[in-house]
Amino acid sequence: MKLIVAIIRPERLPETLHALFQAEVRGISVSRIQGHGGEVERVETYRGTTVKMELVEKIRLEIGVSEDFVDRTVQAIIQGARTHEVGDGKIFVMPLEGVHRIRTGEQNEQAVTPVLSEQH
Ligand SMILES: Nc1ncnc2c1ncn2[C@@H]1O[C@H](COP(=O)(O)OP(=O)(O)OP(=O)(O)O)[C@@H](O)[C@H]1O
Ligand SMILES: [Mg+2]
Repeated sequence: MKLIVAIIRPERLPETLHALFQAEVRGISVSRIQGHGGEVERVETYRGTTVKMELVEKIRLEIGVSEDFVDRTVQAIIQGARTHEVGDGKIFVMPLEGVHRIRTGEQNEQAVTPVLSEQH
């Protein structure tokens, strides 16, 4: 299993969620964050120009998936979030040790895969 953490542009969230839904990825957490991706802001001072680390609004997605869903999840995020401009974001794929579904006590692969017939 892997935990896929993606940092994307807020304005690309609807497209990215749509692409993930089309890829049958279910189960996602979304947070508003601030980040820095190397872009700097130029600030005029009395001694000249300095640069300041710029923090910009981003969206963080967290998706726990079984191994067979890793590629399609990454591709869906790229498809939904890419604009080809700097600042499109990053995807981190991390090893995931364990998942427990609280309601049933199911673990790991049984717990990352939602049962579609149970969804409302
Ligand atoms: N190495 C990193 N570690 C943690 N978060 C990062 C890292 N790089 C980028 N981010 C997050 O992703 C956001 C967008 O980064 P950004 O798209 O600028 O990455 P990049 O590698 O500089 O790509 P680009 O060349 O397209 O700008 C940042 O604001 C930050 O939240
Ligand atoms: Mg950058």
